[in-house]
Order: sequence, then C-alpha cells, then structure tokens
Amino acid sequence: MSLQVQSAVSLKPFNTFGVDVQARLFAEAHSDDDVREALAYSAAHQLPLLVIGGGSNLLLTADIQALVLRMASRGVRVLSDNGQRVIVEAEAGETWHPFVLWSLEQGLSGLENLSLIPGTVGAAPMQNIGAYGVEIKDVFHSLTALDRQTGELREFNLDDCAFAYRDSVFKHQAGRWLILRVRFVLTRAAHLHLEYGPVRQRLTEQGIEQPTAKDVSAAICAIRSEKLPDPAVLGNAGSFFKNPLVSAELGAELKREHPGLVAYPQADGQVKLAAGWLIEQAGWKGFREADAGVHRLQALVLVNYGTASGLQLLGLAQRIQQDIAQRYGVHLEMEPNLY
Ligand code: EPU
Repeated sequence: MSLQVQSAVSLKPFNTFGVDVQARLFAEAHSDDDVREALAYSAAHQLPLLVIGGGSNLLLTADIQALVLRMASRGVRVLSDNGQRVIVEAEAGETWHPFVLWSLEQGLSGLENLSLIPGTVGAAPMQNIGAYGVEIKDVFHSLTALDRQTGELREFNLDDCAFAYRDSVFKHQAGRWLILRVRFVLTRAAHLHLEYGPVRQRLTEQGIEQPTAKDVSAAICAIRSEKLPDPAVLGNAGSFFKNPLVSAELGAELKREHPGLVAYPQADGQVKLAAGWLIEQAGWKGFREADAGVHRLQALVLVNYGTASGLQLLGLAQRIQQDIAQRYGVHLEMEPNLY
C-alpha cells in the first residue's frame, strides 16, 4: 500500500481562495494504483471521495467529511509526431501553466492563449477552460478516465466530452469520472488566435508584427497579470461567475436601456453578456465586507483578503446574484464547485 492517508488536514494550502477548512482524511495520488487504493479506502470506510486538482475552481464552505484526494501524478510525453501535428499527453496532476510552457519549449503551438490559467491538466477538461478566444476543446485529442462506478478505464474522444462554454460531460456527471491523463493535438506551425480583446494591440505596442506562439504566451501572461490577482498573493478562484447567455430579445432590450452593455452575439442567436460589466455597473467593483470582496480591477473575481470563510464568500456571491437579477433580469451562474 503506497497511499499515505492523513487525518484532520487543513485544506488552506490546497484551494486558491485560501479558505481554512479541514478534510477529515487527505491523501495524494501519484499513480493510477494510488487512485484505485483511494477508491477502495473510501468504500471500506464508507466515506465519500472528493477529488481535487489545483483547488483553483473550488469554494469550500465547511469542513469536508470525506477522503480528499489531491491528484499529484506527474509526467508529460510526446505520443506521436508527423513533423507538423504532434500529440502530447500529460498526467492529471501536472500543473497547467508549466505544461503550457513545456509545450512552447518543444516548439509546439496550440496552448499559448491558455497561458497562466491556474489549476491542473486533469481539471482543465472538467470546465473546458478557456481564455482569449481559445478553449481546451480546440486543442483536445482524447483523455483517459476511471469510471468510479465500475472501476474501469474509459477513453473519451472530443465528441464524448460534450464540451461547451465552461462545461463538459464530466461536470454533468459530477463525481462519476476521474480524469487520469489528457492528450492534446498541437502543431509545429503556429496558427495564432490574436483577435480576442487586447492581444494583438499588446503585441503591436511591443513592436511585434509577426509573433511566435511564445510571444503570444508572454503577451497573455502580461495581460492576465495586470487584471487578475495572483492567488499566491490574494485568494481567488478566477472568474466567479460565468458570462451569462441570454436570448437575442433580452440582449437587444438591455442594450437599449444600457448602451454601454458589453455583449457578444453567438452563432445560435443567443447573446453572451460580460458579467464583469454588469457587476461593475451595479457598483460592486472594489466592494469589501470583512475579508470577502470583489476585486478592484476585475468585477468578475471574488477575493479573500485573508480570513474570509467560504460562507462569507458565498453570501457575497448570492447578494451579487440577487442584485443583478433585480436590475437586469439576468441570472449569474457561479463557476466554482461548491462544497
Ligand atoms: N468588464 C468590465 N468590468 C469589469 C470586468 C470586465 O466592464 O470589472 C468588461 C471588460 O471591459 C470587457 C468585458 O467585460 O469589455 C470582458 O472582460 P474580460 O476580457 O476581462 O473577460 P471576462 O469576460 O471578464 C473571460 C473569462 C476569463 C478569461 C477572459 C479572457 C469567463 C467567466 N471568464 O472573462 O476566464 O481569462 O475572458 O478570455 O468566461 C476564468 O474562467 O476563471 C477566467 C479568468
């Protein structure tokens, strides 16, 4: 038995909000065997198993009466390379951003717009992470997951994952699939996506007219660092709400009432609204009560100034939700998983 199970462990270092709750039991999985042992252990002790990655999409509101298993498996490798199209595989416990940097060092393009996103490789497909016009679905090849109901391994290709905006089959069937490793299709020739927001402008300002994938990564790191708080300095879980999708009618009505509304028409006729704009207009940007607050530079990000509890952060989020529903008739869905 290689799994080291500890009791009464503070989860403060394991969630980027820095919320201090205890796990009844805690272990780290370094291999598939550890994962299977943890499943057997939780069944034998009749305790739920809560699997976490980097803890960057979590809001913990109470002590966790479960075995918390942190995925810590490591390893990245090239599976195939035809000179142009390269398939790489990473273990679930790999930290996302160093994996992106590794791919760029190999001369591979595809992940550059997803630079500096907190979290792990194994958690990335859960919510189809995305930034600056690229989502994981755009570079996804396949993944291997363990079915917690049967103990069997299953391969998922792109269609099996049902990826959508911050959504996937793994989110819908929460608790069923435990992602072990993920494969991506990257390219030697760079097909860059520079059209989103300030990316191209940032490169132009730097005098870079023909950027490489590394240039794009560096620009995105700089843009993110300016707007988004570093969880090592100020607790947060990135965007706390999804950008809401509303009907074309509601989108048009809101635009008439609020000409500054930031809205992106979608292929299916719906309109995606910038939740950060709605929250800022409602006056919440920079709001702080005790140690729970709304970031002063990005209204979509809730922050923990030190000792906020998960319930305080949740309470603040619910007040914002109610206010936005009242003012605009729009429901803001929370992004992090709540426990
Ligand atoms: N805006 C405001 N006030 C604010 C924040 C934003 O008016 O306080 C406006 C901005 O001016 C801009 C628009 O809202 O016109 C969009 O803002 P931004 O480009 O900062 O992106 P976002 O919609 O707030 C999304 C993702 C981020 C991702 C960025 C860049 C979601 C929920 N969030 O944020 O993802 O990094 O786009 O692609 O889709 C995350 O999911 O944790 C995350 C950080």
